[in-house]
Amino acid sequence: VGDWQGKDVLTAEQFSREDMELVIDAARRLAGALRSGTVPETMHGKILATLFFEPSTRTRLSFEAAMLRLGGRVVSVAEAKSTSVAKGETLEDTVRTVEGYADVIVLRHPAVGSAQAAAAATHRPVINAGDGAGQHPTQALLDLYTIAEEKDRVDGLTVGLVGDLKHGRTVHSLSQALSHFEVKLVLVSPDELRMPEEIVGVLQKAGVQVEQTGDLRTAVSACDVLYMTRIQRERFPDPVEYERLKGSYVLTEELLARAEHDLTVMHPLPRVDEIDPRVDSLPGAAYFRQSANGVPVRMALLSLIGGSDPGIG
Ligand code: NCD
Repeated sequence: VGDWQGKDVLTAEQFSREDMELVIDAARRLAGALRSGTVPETMHGKILATLFFEPSTRTRLSFEAAMLRLGGRVVSVAEAKSTSVAKGETLEDTVRTVEGYADVIVLRHPAVGSAQAAAAATHRPVINAGDGAGQHPTQALLDLYTIAEEKDRVDGLTVGLVGDLKHGRTVHSLSQALSHFEVKLVLVSPDELRMPEEIVGVLQKAGVQVEQTGDLRTAVSACDVLYMTRIQRERFPDPVEYERLKGSYVLTEELLARAEHDLTVMHPLPRVDEIDPRVDSLPGAAYFRQSANGVPVRMALLSLIGGSDPGIG
């Protein structure tokens, strides 16, 4: 189980290449076990708590499905207003309470740094399922797994990250995860929504070749993988600014015809208008395969944190 047992998962910056390869290998075996109906019940007798104080479809349901597939059970909060948070309880007190009910805690919360704060309040492993415009490290693991599955490798690829790179936590985590591989990153965003300087710094320090541009067309021709993201409306203090920047990039069949090679299109979802639905039927459109990959990857993660290598049982 490498270094995963009992660990918090707070930011992609904590991952080594070995950590990520261990999860990818385990996820691949678990995907096989799901197909053949031979999943090991590594979480039997354990309870997972999913605390979601921001909307979610994929992350919460795939964590819960993963836990159930492994023979574990789930208790869940899907809305802040259904908890004592609505009465003014602090996150620390909520987490200290949930510690008494569950073995592992998955948290999504609007505040940057909330997962760190939660982890400091409990001895249970805390998994960050998105802290505001901060990080979304388990999404990075499933994104990496998806790239490896779709492309049969990660090293040597040129990956384009497109859209709201300022507020998008998935691209913050994914770019840091990719910095351990030999990749080239093309960062495509409007000027106002560029990747935060401190993350660009981390990438460059890791030796990643980084190109920043506002032009999606160039990226379509240059990239092996195009990772589209939604302009994150809920992070804009000024709705007028959102209205001005939404619709900055729309990936269409016509635009994709410029790619002379097999371009893989990814998206963490939900999409608003940044990928034309006619793209969905193209062979390179990987985003629904990507969301399905959330289950074996989160199974691998839960198993390893719980202390079982799912390959050994
Ligand atoms: C993303 C998120 O919540 O950060 N969704 C997800 O977890 N798959 C992306 C987004 O909301 O745009």
